[in-house]
Amino acid sequence: MRIPLERSGTVPLYTQIERFLLCAITSGNLPVRTRLPSARQLAADLGLSRMTVETAYAGLEAEGLVTREIGRGTFVLPPASPAMPQGDSPESWPQWQRDLTVSCASWRDAAGAPSAGDDAIRFDTGTGDARRFPVEELRRTMLSVLRRDGRSALEYGDPRGYAPLRKTMAQVLSAQGLQASENDVLITSGSQQGIALVAQLLLRPGDTVVVERPTYGAVLGLFRAIGLRIVDVPVDRHGMQVELLEAILQRSNPRLIYTIPNFQNPTGSCMSTQRRKELVLLAERYDVPVLEDDFVGDLRYDGRALPPLKALDRSSNVIYVSTFSKMLMPGLRAGLVLADGPVLEILSELKRLTDLATSNMIQRALDAYVSVGRYEAHLRRSRRVYAKRRDAMARAVERSLPAGTTFDMPSGGLFLWIRLPEGHSATAILARARARGVRIAPGGEFFADGEEGDRFIRLNFAAFTPEEIDHGVSEMGKAIGHLR
Ligand SMILES: Cc1ncc(COP(=O)(O)O)c(C=O)c1O
Repeated sequence: MRIPLERSGTVPLYTQIERFLLCAITSGNLPVRTRLPSARQLAADLGLSRMTVETAYAGLEAEGLVTREIGRGTFVLPPASPAMPQGDSPESWPQWQRDLTVSCASWRDAAGAPSAGDDAIRFDTGTGDARRFPVEELRRTMLSVLRRDGRSALEYGDPRGYAPLRKTMAQVLSAQGLQASENDVLITSGSQQGIALVAQLLLRPGDTVVVERPTYGAVLGLFRAIGLRIVDVPVDRHGMQVELLEAILQRSNPRLIYTIPNFQNPTGSCMSTQRRKELVLLAERYDVPVLEDDFVGDLRYDGRALPPLKALDRSSNVIYVSTFSKMLMPGLRAGLVLADGPVLEILSELKRLTDLATSNMIQRALDAYVSVGRYEAHLRRSRRVYAKRRDAMARAVERSLPAGTTFDMPSGGLFLWIRLPEGHSATAILARARARGVRIAPGGEFFADGEEGDRFIRLNFAAFTPEEIDHGVSEMGKAIGHLR
């Protein structure tokens, strides 16, 4: 065990050891029943007398934090009343840390705390059904990649991404109408990294950025963290109301327009082709870059695919990001940026400076998986399964939620965006539903400001079977009934 000691300070060494162990025990880093090193061993490790360590252990014993069992050793006990570990009390933080908590408070709340893994029905999740992840196929693919590539799979690799994967991705994108070569593609650690890199490159504190209203909460959080001025354009069932955009471009001189044209998060709406064309034209006329986030573009259940903005963009204004998180598995942390012009090269350099490279091993496995057509087959199956789940959720909402609840049926993606009847509050429902084992995403997370979001709830339909959906929505209905 290594314990940092201030040997020339005024605090006795046994007190320093005792405090260090107290923090480790109360914080849970030394779990209950952990056996501490013998006093002789710890004294040798720290270059101290055995008596110093014995005194520290005796202090911990007196506080009821450890027990000494003769002939067996010293063991950690459950703390009766957990002491506040050093550093948790705001007064003990240095001034720069206290300033940080003030400046970040607004976005930290909006991002929400990560939720514990329990067996609740997680309608609040943002991914597909983890039970459908192709675990066994990935295991076999990874083994065969290791056999084939050996050590080279474990090197850092090219910061722009594994060249064969970039080539495969260019082919996949071409099939979606995006003419691209491997040199136009940058592989990122999820699309969130692609978005963050674009923000880091193009935006400075105080700049204005245009987003949709409502939009993806973690991008709002990112933009707030950078200190941007967020201007939002309402979304209707045909996507961002692009006809309102020109006045904003004239008035606010934004540095970036962020949009999710396909199966928007959270509304599920799809931007019409007409609006796509107008958006691209406006970007060109006003010389503003557009960040197109195509996070679930491949999950379409009805209707015809619409052209990505990037495919309509003749003047290199659109930066396109996509991800394998929703179509395949989020834990791969694999996404991509497609752009042309100098911006891609600079983004690649920023990416290198940020994390050197995305996991080489994962990229090779992904390439092997995607290129043999299994990805396409997995997608086809997912579309079939998720379409049925979407329909099941729509029926369950109509059956179990109060009259006056409305939604537009999404033609793809993961979410149903529910508008509550007058007088209902999503945050009030959140707590009640949670007590009944159901998690929902309250609408406020997706709005840059105001109370409007509290009339909405986002429900993920893809991650659950129709039976689970029926049960979860019926519990939500009961939770709402109790509130009335
Ligand atoms: C709209 C949207 N964009 C991007 C992301 C980021 O996903 P990832 O970083 O896993 O690719 C998400 C994740 O939920 C999302 O909802």
